[in-house]
Amino acid sequence: MTSTPLPPGLASCLPAGSVIGIFGGGQLGKMLAEAARRLGYRTHIYDSIADTPAARVSDQHTDAPYEDLEAVARFAKASDVISYEFENIPITAIQQAAKFAPVFPDAKALETSHDRLVEKTFLRETAHVPVAAFRAVEAMADLTEALSAFGGPAVLKTRRFGYDGKGQVKIDGPRDVKAGFARLGGADLIAEGFVPFVREFSIIAARDQHGNIAAYPLTENVHKDHRLHTSLAPADDPRNVAGTAHAIAERILEALSYVGVMGIEFFELANGDLIVNEIAPRVHNSGHWTQNGGCTDQFEQHIRAITGLPLGNTTPTHRVEMTNLIGDEIKQAGELAKQANTFVHDYDKRDIRPGRKMGHVNRIVE
Ligand SMILES: Nc1ncnc2c1ncn2[C@@H]1O[C@H](COP(=O)(O)OP(=O)(O)O)[C@@H](O)[C@H]1O
Ligand SMILES: [Mg+2]
Repeated sequence: MTSTPLPPGLASCLPAGSVIGIFGGGQLGKMLAEAARRLGYRTHIYDSIADTPAARVSDQHTDAPYEDLEAVARFAKASDVISYEFENIPITAIQQAAKFAPVFPDAKALETSHDRLVEKTFLRETAHVPVAAFRAVEAMADLTEALSAFGGPAVLKTRRFGYDGKGQVKIDGPRDVKAGFARLGGADLIAEGFVPFVREFSIIAARDQHGNIAAYPLTENVHKDHRLHTSLAPADDPRNVAGTAHAIAERILEALSYVGVMGIEFFELANGDLIVNEIAPRVHNSGHWTQNGGCTDQFEQHIRAITGLPLGNTTPTHRVEMTNLIGDEIKQAGELAKQANTFVHDYDKRDIRPGRKMGHVNRIVE
């Protein structure tokens, strides 16, 4: 942990009974609300849908569109501090809310992660951390140029609204340019050099209002169908990269004067070099293992950071493997819950849909 003096104007810790407003009513909002309640806070969920997993465990909810700035103002006036559980909230809603209550992470962090081009540029130019080669693609010629500049395959992505591998396509060579470009709509795209990684891992890190930083150990992530499948933490570190990865995480949090939990996704190369893939200004799917790892879980950590409480201990006492339960897999939850050292987290979603994250299971493996 590093510590810097308290910046002027920031509140001291919020007393129990204070209201935490959360934009977004999905599973991350639900688990944030549960952590907030454990600490004695009240929660208020804002979502465009009324019946959400988070609203069902919260004291209050507002169901209104994010564009309804009057509803946002009412919500913010009724909150002592505000956060969000997903990054595709219109920036106007965050700016409106911030007129009435502190919002963590702030609008700058959200804006940075809204757009992959802005994010990659911030990471390279401001945070000075390694990222894949990239360039903006507005015309087919940009993609052709990018391929020759990268000297290998590229991954073409939409700049905004991509998640779980949606909105991206691999471009192996000039022959794929036309179809790939057309498939993603042909504008507001970014091309990245394809990274021949040996594995993917993430760092979940938090920074509090005083500038203290606490990070969890490396979490190794395995994707299936471009979606996170399993996370294992603490991961082995055969190439001895943890120190570098944690230093990179600190640099990113500090460059944004960030407050809250952030998920940082890395590619690890065979020679031990690291490349930052993307950042998420929120609690992260690859941090769910913390709920049963014997440390402060990432949801409580985020609530601690935004309410001014000291950050909690991030050293796990167990090694945990987290597996997402996607679609019909949630039907196995009852059987899984009967197994030793196995903890089921059901998101209480009303409809099972293919590809939908319905829950996860944490298995203590050591
Ligand atoms: N430049 C790249 N090189 C190699 N693989 C990539 C690259 N970009 C993305 N991928 C693969 O696709 C996955 C999803 O991409 P990512 O940019 O993290 O988008 P999402 O927002 O969908 O998580 C990554 O976890 C990785 O497995
Ligand atoms: Mg990702």
